[in-house]
Amino acid sequence: MQMASNIREKHVAVFAFPFASHPALMLTLVRRLASAAPAVAFSFLNTETSNRALFAEPGCDNIKPYNISDGKPEGYVPVGNPEEGINLFLAVAEDEFRRGVRVAEMDTGLKITCIVVDAFLGFSGDIAEEMNVPWVGFWPSGTCSLAAHFYTDLIREKTAQLIVSTGPDGEIVDLIPGLESVRLGDLPSGVVSGNLESPFATMLHKMGRTLAKATAVPINSFQELDPDLTKNLSSKLNNFLNIGPFNLISKENTASKVDEFSCMKWLDNQKTRAVAYICFGTFFNLPPQELVELAETLEETKTPFLWSMNKDSYKHFPKGFLERTIANGTGKVVPWAPQDQVLNHVAIGVLVTHGGYNSMLESIGAGVPMICRPYLGDHYINSWMVERVWGIGLRIQGGNFTKHATRRALEQVLSLSKSMDEKIKTLKDLAHKAAAPNGSSNQNFKTLVEVVCGAGLHLEPNF
Ligand SMILES: *[C@@H]1O[C@H](CO)[C@@H](O)[C@H](O)[C@H]1NC(C)=O
Ligand SMILES: *[C@@H]1O[C@H](CO)[C@@H](O)[C@H](O)[C@H]1NC(C)=O
Ligand SMILES: *[C@@H]1O[C@H](CO)[C@@H](O)[C@H](O)[C@H]1NC(C)=O
Ligand SMILES: *[C@@H]1O[C@H](CO)[C@@H](O)[C@H](O)[C@H]1NC(C)=O
Ligand SMILES: *[C@@H]1O[C@H](CO)[C@@H](O)[C@H](O)[C@H]1NC(C)=O
Repeated sequence: MQMASNIREKHVAVFAFPFASHPALMLTLVRRLASAAPAVAFSFLNTETSNRALFAEPGCDNIKPYNISDGKPEGYVPVGNPEEGINLFLAVAEDEFRRGVRVAEMDTGLKITCIVVDAFLGFSGDIAEEMNVPWVGFWPSGTCSLAAHFYTDLIREKTAQLIVSTGPDGEIVDLIPGLESVRLGDLPSGVVSGNLESPFATMLHKMGRTLAKATAVPINSFQELDPDLTKNLSSKLNNFLNIGPFNLISKENTASKVDEFSCMKWLDNQKTRAVAYICFGTFFNLPPQELVELAETLEETKTPFLWSMNKDSYKHFPKGFLERTIANGTGKVVPWAPQDQVLNHVAIGVLVTHGGYNSMLESIGAGVPMICRPYLGDHYINSWMVERVWGIGLRIQGGNFTKHATRRALEQVLSLSKSMDEKIKTLKDLAHKAAAPNGSSNQNFKTLVEVVCGAGLHLEPNF
């Protein structure tokens, strides 16, 4: 401890939002910062369950996890409502992060010099202000959803006064600055629809209202993807910094995972750009009826597929489906796939996805078009971007898998029109350029290191 306080002068507190992919992305960011500035101490405040999963493998010496409560009472039994866990956590989060900061300061003997938070944690700006340290709000999702939350008051005002004009598909022109149009139903819930008073919606609303006070707002994206949104947010936020896509910059997470179900070997025997890779993320299960519709359409259209899904859902497949498709070599179902590697295999023709932002970034990085079936949160606006703004895929017609809509979507995307092909290639190219050592995202990252760690600090020469 004595040693540590001699060599380390700066101390960054990190506040994670312990749900879905948020903490893992935050740790990826913090690892980049910590390797760039080895003389800075990083204290990673997160729930014990999440920390246990994240820190199972050794990482940087200058990152230390601290456990805070998840707010669950002793003997808690989940009620099955996904927001319940979030609500319990939010009820204690502010106090717990304050307590965590005190513990980390005592433990290291160093005062906090900067707070880096998941921007979802809207209340954390007050803590940084009281401590009089820079507040850095990391947005782990897309620019479109950030803009929807940042402009919530403006959007509510425009829709309430009906000063909006709708297009043929119900899209509203100029609802979000920097986005030509969007449909109301595609905005994340809590902006104009859903329970606007829930703890979660309230927190995001507060975040939108206070984020302009942040010293920097890094985002896991690249500025060439959404130039107009980026331009607008850059005029409103301090140091709005596109520093992604993380999957193209920080390879260490994916590279270490072995292909235990031999997906790559199976793909080697498939035709170029023919396979539908289906994955709805770790946190969502397709409703059984839609699973059947999708499976039957794949079989009827003889579309080769690699389907990564939770084993618990295998029982919902139509009778004999697995046996038939596996025996014929047209399909493979696995409980887990090395997604980034799979997407980069030449056999993959389409990603069928829930529209989670990370999957989209991986698909763009690999140049694979998408079919989206959004579930919640930002999936809808992400899917809108894919279909209408970026032109690199489709949202499933009607929003659910039916045979008719699925057949149509597979045909359209797998036949890959010239325009879609050009658009996905262009975005792929821009993503790789941004992530290159001299690319925009790495330039922006250098600025972020200075904000978080302080200018004039000793940094690694080639971080
Ligand atoms: C925090 O949680 C981890 C994972 O369960 C555990 O190994 C560690 O001892 C805990 N730390 C403290 C200070 O309780
Ligand atoms: C961004 O949008 C806001 C709200 O419409 C507007 O006031 C501002 O001028 C825009 N900034 C830029 C750079 O276009
Ligand atoms: C799969 O094999 C079965 C016989 O086992 C055959 O009847 C069926 O037509 C085959 N399907 C495809 C898609 O090749
Ligand atoms: C379609 O999906 C939505 C959202 O996931 C769901 O609420 C609805 O029940 C589904 N409709 C049908 C017909 O499956
Ligand atoms: C990066 O930029 C610097 C200065 O602009 C230049 O000297 C260097 O050669 C570039 N490196 C690469 C890999 O492009």
